[in-house]
Amino acid sequence: MAMDKFVINGGAKLSGTISVSGAKNSALKILAALLLSDQKCIINNFPFIEDTNIAIEILKDLGAKVEIDKERKMLIVDPSQVCKTNLDPILVKKLRSSILFAGPLLARFGHVEMNHPGGCVIGRRPINMFLDGFGKLGAEVEFTQEGFKLRAKEGKLKGAEIFFPQITVTGTETMMMTAVLAEGKTVLRNCAMEPEILSLAEYLNKCGARIKGAGTHTIEIQGVEKLLGSYFDVIADRIEAGTFVMMGLLTNSEIKVENCNPEHLGAVLPILQKAGAKLEIGKDYIITKPSQMKAISVVTHEYPGFATDLQSPYTLLMTQVQNQSIVHESIFEGRLFFTDQLNSMGANIIMCDPHRVVVNGPTKLYGKKLTSPDLRAGITMVLAGMIAEGTTIIDNIYQIDRGYENIELRLQKLGADIKRITL
Ligand code: EPU
Repeated sequence: MAMDKFVINGGAKLSGTISVSGAKNSALKILAALLLSDQKCIINNFPFIEDTNIAIEILKDLGAKVEIDKERKMLIVDPSQVCKTNLDPILVKKLRSSILFAGPLLARFGHVEMNHPGGCVIGRRPINMFLDGFGKLGAEVEFTQEGFKLRAKEGKLKGAEIFFPQITVTGTETMMMTAVLAEGKTVLRNCAMEPEILSLAEYLNKCGARIKGAGTHTIEIQGVEKLLGSYFDVIADRIEAGTFVMMGLLTNSEIKVENCNPEHLGAVLPILQKAGAKLEIGKDYIITKPSQMKAISVVTHEYPGFATDLQSPYTLLMTQVQNQSIVHESIFEGRLFFTDQLNSMGANIIMCDPHRVVVNGPTKLYGKKLTSPDLRAGITMVLAGMIAEGTTIIDNIYQIDRGYENIELRLQKLGADIKRITL
């Protein structure tokens, strides 16, 4: 897997329908949340991708029983036998968001030990807000050589007021999950508002939690004694949907992106339309039409703003349209460095500072040998290869498999000339 490459011959026109998978960034959270209970959780619309595979390995290592039904996109997890509370260091290193597992384990068992999940190519990605939050909820934090140990004072967490100094998605989710079993009331302020957070809160409430306000900046949690099991439908991946829409526009093709929720692209679709994209937007689908587009600048922003995870395909799109635009990545430093590789293909992108680039369009792109630095830049390289003249070879596609299920098969179905080479 790790050594696989994609070989893409550019220029193919696409047509047909592509179905959006369950959201990676929703599925990962439910896998952590279900540790709060000792009862079964049934998960539907589950995406079987590298990141969720690692999360499943973490659950199994902790003692959970996991039944997988890929055909029906279903997963059944029985966490009743979980008793281990130290997370496997090798698995933790493979998945930055393994920090999500710390809160539920701490809440249910009163202690947890893990290695630091480590840095990441899109920025430093510190975990200070997680550790501060655990501390506020009454955990003692002890640093070990490679990571940290958390222990609830007197065995039980206590509700608290937590203000996030910066908006954090997994931080909000982690504190929400952790507070569910704490004694008394917790108020979280300056919370992230992503749809995946609301969906997680709805699941927890179905299991007996008392959470109010998820999806807004203030979340209140009244602690409960225990949680039951329930079922969970993973919501559609809004990032996949947005990426596929941009793929339709980049290739000047009519494609239908189905099984998505266009409401979750509230900031993105109007910008595309303003730039000239012809889109037919239904309740659960988006159809792209060949369009004459022009440049529009964007600034990424926490939800409901323009998602940072869609910044890279949008930057590529801007290389193909008339005029100049500025793409301002406000969330992560380091998430624009992939533009170097687009320049090697013929793009004209000038980096002002790590957070901002000027994109001059339109430019013709030529096939090149590229290396995928992270998930979202990786899929953007696939799209770049699809519109470039000649052949593009992408290395390190593990980074793409982390978040996109069977991507080459799904793109081939639309008419793309893409092959996986396994070495
Ligand atoms: N931050 C801190 N300290 C912390 C936590 C975060 O300084 O303790 C900073 C980060 O360095 C960043 C900012 O806060 O500058 C916001 O980061 P956030 O915590 O919101 O990011 P995240 O929760 O780690 C999630 C998604 C990302 C997505 C971001 C932003 C998951 C598993 N990951 O990350 O998704 O880009 O929110 O929307 O939900 C991806 O799917 O490719 C991906 C990177």
